[in-house]
Amino acid sequence: MKIGDITLKNPVVLAPMAGVCNPAFRLIAKEFGAGLVCAEMVSDKGILHENERSLKMLYVDEREKPLSLQIFGGERESLVAAAKYVDKNTNADIIDINMGCPVPKITKCDAGAKWLLDPDKIYEMVAATVDAVQKPVTVKMRIGWDEDHIYAVKNAQAVERAGGAAVAVHGRTRVQMYEGVADWDIIGEVKKNVSIPVIGNGDISSPQEAKDRMDQYGVDGVMIGRAALGNPWMLYRTVQYLQNGIIAPEPTAREKMNICMLHMDRLIDLKGEDVAAREMRKHTAWYLKGLPQTGSVRNAINQMTTREEMSKLLFDYVDQLEEVQKIS
Ligand SMILES: Cc1cc2nc3c(=O)[nH]c(=O)nc-3n(C[C@H](O)[C@H](O)[C@H](O)COP(=O)(O)O)c2cc1C
Repeated sequence: MKIGDITLKNPVVLAPMAGVCNPAFRLIAKEFGAGLVCAEMVSDKGILHENERSLKMLYVDEREKPLSLQIFGGERESLVAAAKYVDKNTNADIIDINMGCPVPKITKCDAGAKWLLDPDKIYEMVAATVDAVQKPVTVKMRIGWDEDHIYAVKNAQAVERAGGAAVAVHGRTRVQMYEGVADWDIIGEVKKNVSIPVIGNGDISSPQEAKDRMDQYGVDGVMIGRAALGNPWMLYRTVQYLQNGIIAPEPTAREKMNICMLHMDRLIDLKGEDVAAREMRKHTAWYLKGLPQTGSVRNAINQMTTREEMSKLLFDYVDQLEEVQKIS
């Protein structure tokens, strides 16, 4: 798949996820084979006011490339100015505009999913952004605001007319938040009605499902979010399956904990041990998902404040598990 002048080596895309897709996890996703990684959304106003936290979120490690950096905003002037900043001052490859965030704090400012009600605004905002920057501009959207306002096709066509280089479509409305199931028929309709690449997104939970969706709906790429949390193997196994039809084995508990600690080490480099230890609590719970006998280790995670404690907790658990498995 090509997005503007950026060629992806495969069609598997790590979804942008706030609080998750920082350089620590993105680099792991890239090492596990993702063709494109997306960064967590950054506020246009945060960038323009040179908010320290927002500017830190613009950091891109050379090894993560190609990378898409997502901005959100509700007003043309600030959105375009932030896009220009990202264009000139970061080594991101693609500038993505968020048109899917359902959270009231965001939609109240006319940002995120609010755009979905107004294809003309989408055209105007995307055209102004495309004109102002060199990097390819893409959009990530939901299918509509609610079931009475599903303008996915019109909205994607507006992106295309405005010069957008690709569109990623999450098959839910804003009102659905994360309830119900993603409507891939509508994603398929979008694919039939635009000629820019369409990346389908929503509820892909196995390599086979990713391939089925690509085959059935003809999308150019698949974007994977929640299934990759604590499970970058999902990305690797999907790439492998799409490329050679082989279902790679699931990781062992020890492999999972090794990557969990690599994740923690990278987060420590990025944010320091205190913040990393707190942030790793949720990630560790995700890495433990699907493993047996995790009750006591899960309970203990929330008390962890250092790398040493976390490592001991996780590898004691793995040692015990392996002992039990040897015996049985
Ligand atoms: C924790 C979390 C944070 C998210 N943050 C963003 C974000 O910053 N930008 C965005 O466009 N979508 C965001 N999303 C939505 C995902 O990119 C994706 O569209 C959604 O999770 C559906 O895909 P999935 O079923 O594969 O998880 C987020 C989702 C989750 C679970």
